[in-house]
This record gives sequence, structure tokens and C-alpha cells, in this order.
Amino acid sequence: MARFIDELQRTHHCGGLRVTDVGCEVVLFGWVASRRDHGRCVFIDLRDREGITQVVFDEGIDAPSLALAETMRSEWVIGIRGRVRDRGTMRNPKMSTGDVEVEVLETTVFNKSKAPPFAIEDDTNTNEERRLTYRYLDLRRPVMQKTFRLRHRLYQAVRRYFDDNDFTEVETPLIVKYTPGGARNFLVPSRLHAGSFYALAESPQLYKQLLMVAGFERYFQIVKCFRDEDLRLDRQPEFTQIDVEMSFINQDMLFKMMEGLVFRMFKAALDIDLHDLYPSGRFPQLDFYEAMEKYGSDKPDLRFDLEHTELTKLAVAHGGGGIPFFAEIADKFTRGEYRIDYPEEIIKALVVPASANFSRAFLDSLEDFVRQAGGKGLARAKVGDDGAWTQSPLTKLVTDEFRIAVNAATKAQPGDLILFQSGAEARVHVVMANLRVHLAKKMGLIPESGSGGKWNLSWVVAPPLYERNDDGTWAAAHHAFTRPYDEDVQYILSDPARVRCYRYDLVLNGFEIGGGSIRLHDSEVQAKVFERLGISEQDAQRLFGFLLEALANGAPPHGGMALGLDRVTMLLSEGASIRDVVAFPKTQKGTDQMTKCPDPVDPRQLEELNIRVQLPK
Ligand code: AMO
Repeated sequence: MARFIDELQRTHHCGGLRVTDVGCEVVLFGWVASRRDHGRCVFIDLRDREGITQVVFDEGIDAPSLALAETMRSEWVIGIRGRVRDRGTMRNPKMSTGDVEVEVLETTVFNKSKAPPFAIEDDTNTNEERRLTYRYLDLRRPVMQKTFRLRHRLYQAVRRYFDDNDFTEVETPLIVKYTPGGARNFLVPSRLHAGSFYALAESPQLYKQLLMVAGFERYFQIVKCFRDEDLRLDRQPEFTQIDVEMSFINQDMLFKMMEGLVFRMFKAALDIDLHDLYPSGRFPQLDFYEAMEKYGSDKPDLRFDLEHTELTKLAVAHGGGGIPFFAEIADKFTRGEYRIDYPEEIIKALVVPASANFSRAFLDSLEDFVRQAGGKGLARAKVGDDGAWTQSPLTKLVTDEFRIAVNAATKAQPGDLILFQSGAEARVHVVMANLRVHLAKKMGLIPESGSGGKWNLSWVVAPPLYERNDDGTWAAAHHAFTRPYDEDVQYILSDPARVRCYRYDLVLNGFEIGGGSIRLHDSEVQAKVFERLGISEQDAQRLFGFLLEALANGAPPHGGMALGLDRVTMLLSEGASIRDVVAFPKTQKGTDQMTKCPDPVDPRQLEELNIRVQLPK
């Protein structure tokens, strides 16, 4: 029988000892975080998941323990039995256990360790590739342990909340039929059905709707989803959703349920009561078009203002106001090539207040920033005391009337700087949205990364059901089973751009943390929606036959949404990237740095699957 573990069981974690424990005999297990050898005495900082305690090996107390301690190295796994003593004048206020130390009476080495490739501590400047290669060591760092404890609390809060609200947790298949639309799927070859493939589920969307048809009424699941997308700081190819669907509800009822969940998640993770920010318990709602106009984004960061000003109509009214690249766009409207409520090219402005006090060099650098964001350049004008534009090539071009109108529309004051962007609608929005956030960071309105202690939650609602393809045909902006506004159904065929729908996103500090919709369960409207998309009845049957069949078998009115658990965890834990909150994430290139995958497989495995690989030339 082993002395430690079998006989001497752990009495405390390494984060728990305080002055009140002085004199107690304790047993601690953990990893050697650091070791200082003072000859007749060795100090070791012993670490486990709860914290660090200083333990002292002293020749005068137990010579064999000191002898062993002299051999110990970083990250060895050890156990000690010892007595807690006061550190007296040597107290360390930086450590939660800094008032005490443990004099070692007996010790054991459970396991040695290779020298770690990087120090196991919170502040690391080790590159991410190395951290991911040795992820188990990276995860041993206290900051990472803290993040995963937070993530754990979120899982538990979610399950408790839905259980309290009479939801049923149901698992749905991950290996599913491929359906077009949405994100690109990973394919899984079938061995038993040569030449046929499953897809990895990008979400349980269809299944949760089928569960509503089945009469479950309230479903939730914490579920892995798979999408073969380009990766970004907030995207992983496999990620976790808190997936929800409800029957007999409208949009507002669903919002209330999800708001309650988010309140609970903040409380569980950070002990923050969101009532302090949202006393009514409700999050504000922002119209999709308003979001695009004011912020150029459907997931605006509303911790700060810096709103855009839409100038297209004004420029059209002034025939371009003397500025050639505005006039070009204005002319197209005048010639009837664009509709003002559905423009293809737009003009926007953003005012940088004089108080920002940016240097000339910084303002010049914005040109590069804009180019990187996809813009061609950045026109700017400084407003003088009399409202004149200075320091700008536009000074000589702009008409007085247009300049005065722009100053009024943008509310620019003397000393302020007006930035302009014009051209293709989507590009102008993206450039100006990026610029808005960039400037906010430089102005100190928000930190480079993290919340800065500010939390802003809002719904973005009422987006269009359709979006126009380049060739003038119409596609579903989200998916073809989203319910249009009843009053807009009349425009589906005549004026699709006008059709808004019950689709919504939940935005936290500029990140989309969730999205969903009220579903279409009315087959007549469904047929119209398909007609506009150019999907014939046969096509619809072929693509979505099983769902249409189910919806025709007594589908209740229903709707739902999914929260991205990884994104929520990233934001609540102030993580710099989604990879910080996924235990074993993929790199930016979609690879697993530790196991080195994806990688080629044995030709016999491919043969079994009837697959031949054709590498790109
Ligand atoms: P949607 O596609 O909007 O909706 O996804 C819901 C939420 O999941 C998160 N998310 C991701 N997180 C990390 N990596 C990714 N690659 C990734 N993709 C999405 C986001 C997003 O808001 N079935 C619908 C929901 C519904 O309609 O009920 C769906 O999947 O936080």
C-alpha cells in the first residue's frame, strides 16, 4: 500500500490555506511551480488547480525530505505532509496563501517531468503554435484553468435554467444528410454505401423543428456543430451551441426566455446581475436597417456611439455637391439606375471629434487601414471655425450648399474631422464599420480586446428575408424556412426587397453570440417564398421533402435560436480568441497542432471507402 494517496489523503488544495490554519497538519498534492535552494533549506511553490502554496523543506525538520527536494525540478508531481506556519515578516500579499507556508514533515515524488517547453504561468509570451502543441501544459496554466471553470459554470447554469423552465434535453444526430444552403459541410464517406456520403451536422436545425412537430414543445441541447468555414478569431470548425426551439410562442416570448438565460449565465460566470444594466430584464432591440445605417454592421458594438451618417440621399439631392465621385453615384440615381430604398452604391460619413486629438501621421495611416479593409481610399475634411472644409482635396470641389448640408447632417463641429466613404453598399458598410471600431479603440472608448468592464447586449431584428444576387435573382438571406412579417407577405413576388422576417441576432459587445428565427409553418406562404427563390415544387421536394412532409403533419407554430457557447465564454472570460476557451482547438488553418491532423490515411482505408484521391496539380 502506498503511503501517499492510500494512507495520506489530500486535506487541502494549494489555494486554500490561511492564517487560521496555522498549526494544522495538512497533506497537499500538486506540481512544482518553482524551487529555490538555500542550502539547508529548499522552498517550493506547489501548484494545483486551486492555487499555489509555499512549502519549506528544512534539514532541521526532516532531512530525507530535504534530500528529495534537492532533486526536484519544475513540473514534477509531488505530495507532502506538513504543518502550516505563519510567514511572519516574510508574508507575500500577492498570493492568496501568502500569509502562511507549510514546513514539510514527509514527502513523495509521484512522477518526474521533462523540463517544460515554456513556463507554466499566466503571463506567457510563448507563441500559440507551441502552446497548442503542448496543449496539456498550456491548459495547466492557472488562467486557463480559471477559464474552463467558468465554462463549466456556464454549462451547469444553462442546464439548470432550462430544466427550471420545463425544457427537454434531446440529442440529435451528428452524422446527417447533406442539405444545401448555410455553411459548407464536412462530408463523411459511407463504407456500406459506396459513393454515398453523410454530412457532419452544421446545427441540429432540421431535427429540432421535427421535435416540435413531434410535440416536445420546449427543446434544448448543448451540442457540437461542424462547419467547414474560413476560420477567424471567433470561429472554430467544431464549436458548441446552446440550441433551443419552442412551440406556441412569438418572437417576444422567445426573447424573454433567452434573456432570462443570459441573465443567469452572467450571474453564474461573473457574479454580475444584469438588472443593474437592464432593470426591466429586457435587452434593447435594434432594427436591422438602422444598425446598417448607423454602424454599417448587423452586429454593432454599442459600448460607444461614433455613429455613421448616411449621405446618399443628400448627395443625390445636391447632384453630388461638386465632388466627382459623389456625382457619379448621384447621376446613377437620377438616371433611375438605382432605387433610393435599395441602392447599390452609397455614401457615408463618420465624424472624428476634435477631442480625439489624432496626429496627422495617425490620420494618414487610416488610408492604409481602409485599404486593408477593402476600401479604395479615404476622403477626409477638417471643419474650420466658420464651417469651411480645410486640409482636404474636397475643399476646392465641394459646393457651399452641400458642405453646409453635410456639416448639419453629420453634426460636425469646428475642429472635427469628417471621413467619407462611397461606393458599393456592402463594401462601404464594412469599411466604415471597421473604421468605427478602430477609431473607438484608438480613442480609448473600448480596449484593444476584452470588455473593459462594459457589457452591451442588444437584439438586431427585422432583417430582410431575401437578398439580391449579382445576377438580379433573389436568395434567402438566412434560410427559406424563416417566417416573413405577415404584412410583408404581399410583396414577396412584387417587391422582395421590402419583405422583412422574424430573424434575429443577439449581439454582445460587437460579437454575434446567437441567432435564430420564427419558422414558417404555413405551406401557402412557404410555396410563395420558394417561388420567389426560383425553387420549383419538385426541387423543394427533392431538397427538403422530408421537412415539408413533417410540416404538413400537424406542425405547431414554432421558433428558436442558438447561442454560441464558445463565443459567450470567450467574451465573459476576456479571452483574446475563441481558441482560448476550447480545450483542444484547431489552429487558424484548421489543423490540430498536437496530433497533426488532418493527415493522409493508409491507401487501404481509402480503398475500403471506394475513394480515390486526386491531389491538386
Ligand atoms: P447560426 O448559424 O446563427 O444559427 O449559429 C448560432 C450561433 O452559433 C455561433 N457560431 C459559431 N461559433 C463558433 N464558430 C463557428 N464557426 C460558429 N458559427 C456559428 C454564433 C452564432 O450566433 N440553426 C441556427 C439557429 C436557429 O435558427 O435556431 C444556427 O445555427 O454565436
